[in-house]
Amino acid sequence: ANLIINGSSTRPIPETLFGIFFEEINHAGAGGIWAELVNNRGFEAGGQNTPSNIAPWSIIGDQSSLIVSTDRSSCFERNKVALRMDVLCDSEGGNTCPAAGVGIYNPGFWGMNIEQGKAYKVVLYVRSLGSINVSVSLTSSDGSQILASANIVDSDVSNWTKAEVLLEAKGTNPNSRLQLTTSRKGVIWFDQVSAMPLDTYKGHGFRNELIEMIDDIKPQFVRFPGGCFVEGEWLRNAFRWKESIGPWEERPGHFGDVWMYWTDDGLGYFEFLQLTEDLGARPIWVFNNGISHQDQVDTTAVSPFVQEALDGLEFARGDSNSKWGSVRAAMGHPEPFDLKYVAVGNEDCGKKNYRGNYLKFYNAIRSAYPDIKIISNCDGSSRSLDHPADYYDYHVYTSASNLFSMTRQFDRTSRTGPKAFVSEYAVTGKDAGTGSLLAALAEAGFLIGLEKNSDIVEMASYAPLFVNANDRRWNPDAIVFNSSMHYGTPSYWVQKFFRESSGATLLDAKLQTNSSTLVASAITWQNSDGKTYLKIKIVNFGNSKVNLKVSIDGLGLSSQLSGSTKTVLTSSNLMDENSFANPKKVVPAQTMIENADKDMDVVLSPYSLTSFDLLT
Ligand code: AHR
Repeated sequence: ANLIINGSSTRPIPETLFGIFFEEINHAGAGGIWAELVNNRGFEAGGQNTPSNIAPWSIIGDQSSLIVSTDRSSCFERNKVALRMDVLCDSEGGNTCPAAGVGIYNPGFWGMNIEQGKAYKVVLYVRSLGSINVSVSLTSSDGSQILASANIVDSDVSNWTKAEVLLEAKGTNPNSRLQLTTSRKGVIWFDQVSAMPLDTYKGHGFRNELIEMIDDIKPQFVRFPGGCFVEGEWLRNAFRWKESIGPWEERPGHFGDVWMYWTDDGLGYFEFLQLTEDLGARPIWVFNNGISHQDQVDTTAVSPFVQEALDGLEFARGDSNSKWGSVRAAMGHPEPFDLKYVAVGNEDCGKKNYRGNYLKFYNAIRSAYPDIKIISNCDGSSRSLDHPADYYDYHVYTSASNLFSMTRQFDRTSRTGPKAFVSEYAVTGKDAGTGSLLAALAEAGFLIGLEKNSDIVEMASYAPLFVNANDRRWNPDAIVFNSSMHYGTPSYWVQKFFRESSGATLLDAKLQTNSSTLVASAITWQNSDGKTYLKIKIVNFGNSKVNLKVSIDGLGLSSQLSGSTKTVLTSSNLMDENSFANPKKVVPAQTMIENADKDMDVVLSPYSLTSFDLLT
C-alpha cells in the first residue's frame, strides 16, 4: 500500500476540534474528580423530609450508649435536615462510654484515600445544649488505626457553630473513614460535615491526578454536566444550576435519578466553569430545556426554564454588578467566564415539545447574547434541520466494525448550514468490554474521519469520560479510578494521538490500497518552541501487518529528518484491556526513527494505531 501526502493541499482544522464531555455518571464527579471526601455531608440523601437517609454514615456505639436520628433543625434554609446524636454514656458514672467514644463515621466514596504527610481540612457545623468535646479523626476502615485526629472543645455551642480543624495524616490508607466521636453525655447536632484535601488542582477542589489525565489530552472544550444527568428521569430530579451555586453548605444537593445516586452538588455550575477555565478550555453548558426522560413542560409554560437559562448566562458572563454576576463574584470570580456555547437539552430531539421549547430558548438567547453558539439536539448530518442552530449534536454508540466503517460518515454531509458537534461517541457492547484495544482502534479510525471532515465537524468528545470502579453505571469509559488509583483505557490513549490536531493544518493524505481496513491522515502543527511537526496517523484495523510506502510531497522536506519518532498503540490480543493491576498493558509505545525521510517504507503491526511525528 502507498500513502501519498501532499503538503501543498491543506486546510486549517478548527481550534475547537477535540475536547471532553464530562457527565456526572459513574460517580465521576461526587466521589470522583471533586475531591470532597465525605459522602452525604448534609445527611440529606433521603431528601428534605425526616427520617432522612444518612447512608453511608454509620454509628459507632450501641443502643445503650447512643441514639442517632435526623430532624429538621439545621441553620441552612435550603437543607434543613441535621443529624442528632443523643449520647447516653459518659466518661464516668454508671454508663461509661467505650474507650474510643461513641459517634458516627463516614467511609466516603468506597473509602477515603488518606496519605501520610498530607493535610485535610475538616469543616462541620455543630450545636449542643451543653459543652462539647468531639474528637474528629481520620482512621482505617475499622477505626483501629488513627491516621490523624483533633478535638473540638467548646463550652457554648447553643447556636449552630462552624468548626474547622486541619488534620495532618501520620499514615497512608486508601480505605479510611472520618469519625466524629465523644465520651460526653448530652445531645449534639451535626450538619454539613466536609473533609477536603488541602492540595487540589490549582487549589480549586479537584483531584489532581484525575484532572492531570484530562489536561494531558489538551481538551479544547468541556461539555458539562451531562448527558442524561441534565435531563433527569423526571424533571424534579434534573440538575438545576441555581441549586448548585453559592456557599457549599447551603446547597440542597439532589438525587440524580438516571444514574441513581445522590450528589451534594459541591461540584456545581461555578466549579464546572472554573475547571474549564483552569484547563484553558471553552465551556459548553448543557441545560435542561423543560424535558426529562419521563415528563416535559409544555412550550406555553416553558418560560421559567428559559429565564433560568438566561440567568445562568448572566451568572457566567454578567459583570459583577449584575444580579447573577454578583453571585459569581461573591464566589471568588469577579471576571466573567468565557461561556460562548450552550446546548439546549440532551438527546431530546424526538420528544413532542422539543422544537417548540428549543425555539423559545433559541430566540431568547440569540437576542440577549448574539455571540453565543447554540447547539440543537437534532441530527443535521443527513438532512437539514427545520430550525435555526449553530451546531447540531451527534451521538454514536455502536460496535467496533460499525464505528470503524463510519470513518467516512461525514463525507457526504452538506457543507452548508450548522456544523456538527459529535459530543458523544464510543464503541460499546461486547467489542468494548470495559475498555478494549479493539474499541479504541475503531474509535481512532472514526476520529481520523472526523479530522478529515473537520470543515463540517467542529467539535468531538468521547463518552463517558470517567468511571469510579465501584459504581460502573456505563461501560466502557475513558478513565477508570477508585479512591487512590487510576488508569486510562485504550480509548483514552487514542485521544492522546489527537491532542495536537485542534488548530493544526490538515494535509491531503491519500491511501492507495485495496484494503478497507486502513485509514490515515496527516497534519502539521507548531510546538511551543516554534518548530513545525508533521504527524501522520494510520490505523491498521486488519489482522495482518501492512508494508506501507509513505511519500511526502510539497513540504520541502529534506531527506534524513532528525528527531523524529514513531508511536504505536497495539497489544498481543484485540480484547486486551488495562486494569488497576496492569494499568499500562495497552499504552502507546514511542521509539526514535533513525532513518525518517520524505520517502519511507514502514511496517504497520496488525490491529494498531501508529503515528509518525516528523520534525520538518
Ligand atoms: O454517555 C452516557 C449517556 O449516553 C449520556 O448521558 C447520554 O447523553 C447518552 O445516552
